[in-house]
Amino acid sequence: MGELPGPWRALLDEARLYPSPHNSQPMRVRVTGERSAEVFYDLDRGLPAENFGIPFGHVCAGVFLEGLQAVAAGHGWAVTTDLHLTEMDFDAEDRLHRIATVTLSAHTPGPIDLCRHEAFLARRTNRRPYEGRAVPEVDLAAVAGEASAAGHTFGATTDPDQVASIIRVNQETLFDDLRHDAVHAEIMEWLRFSEREAVNRGDGLSAATMLMPGRILRFAMGHRGLWEAPVIGALIRAVYLRTMRGVTQVAWWSGPFATPADYVAAGRLFLKAWIHLTERGVSLHPFGTVITNPRSHARFVDLVDADESDGRMAWMLVRLGYAKVPPLAHRRPLEEMLA
Ligand SMILES: Cc1cc2nc3c(=O)[nH]c(=O)nc-3n(C[C@H](O)[C@H](O)[C@H](O)COP(=O)(O)O)c2cc1C
Repeated sequence: MGELPGPWRALLDEARLYPSPHNSQPMRVRVTGERSAEVFYDLDRGLPAENFGIPFGHVCAGVFLEGLQAVAAGHGWAVTTDLHLTEMDFDAEDRLHRIATVTLSAHTPGPIDLCRHEAFLARRTNRRPYEGRAVPEVDLAAVAGEASAAGHTFGATTDPDQVASIIRVNQETLFDDLRHDAVHAEIMEWLRFSEREAVNRGDGLSAATMLMPGRILRFAMGHRGLWEAPVIGALIRAVYLRTMRGVTQVAWWSGPFATPADYVAAGRLFLKAWIHLTERGVSLHPFGTVITNPRSHARFVDLVDADESDGRMAWMLVRLGYAKVPPLAHRRPLEEMLA
């Protein structure tokens, strides 16, 4: 790979650890100078089969931009972001959808920058069973504060019935998604059944991160008709629900979610919260598919009584808690992120 000018190699090599739905890693960057770069979304790595899969492309872009900012600040750079937002067209001939021009300027990192940088690098999705205790109010206050400052609402519940119902909706989402051919095909494309495949390809959802033996995952996903069968269906459900033991708290964000600018802002807010919670040792597991599956979405909104009037939407749901460090989700090499 040719050398990248300025600090870009150091920054992008860490920024590529940003989380993305199905670990599809759709963000691409074209470095245009020592202090400038163009950011794109690779439509071939998007997830348009799901109902809200298209807006989630821009959410992911927001997640990436927030991560880039956290990394850059830790390295002594401030990022100015000039967004160029248009709706994504997944049939477009040009497969790189433009997101933003980013420009760096020197910045002296403070203690907050250094902590955020470290937390960004340590952050992982945690799909393990949790330890049965909720996150104290004081550790959620900053997350709620950031949300309200951006015109969003952060809600959380430890009500056992509500938590159990949401866990149930999340599990049923998986079953429901598999009934839809396009969504099933999309998930299959991103599953990595062996660790070797996960390492070699450097992307996707590995069996290890899903806490499932690869062979069982391959069999279960390849024979989705069996999920409807009484005994096997119940068994698969029980295996999946075992990973949800000890969950006592779920949380969600709602707010403006009608334009690409809203989606990007939501993504930034989400990663900001995830970094903040990581700093406090909190584990998180997004239930994004509950949001993107229309049936589950309606049930979830009803359960928490979220406000979806006037262009607002409940756009993210997570489980929160404490757990051991989860398996690592791999990333593709930096070269593959460059455009
Ligand atoms: C917007 C968004 C939605 C996500 N939705 C889900 C989800 O519904 N279920 C899930 O298990 N993981 C979900 N994830 C987590 C990703 O699968 C995860 O970030 C990715 O596999 C990389 O792993 P890491 O977070 O451990 O680095 C989501 C992540 C993002 C950014």
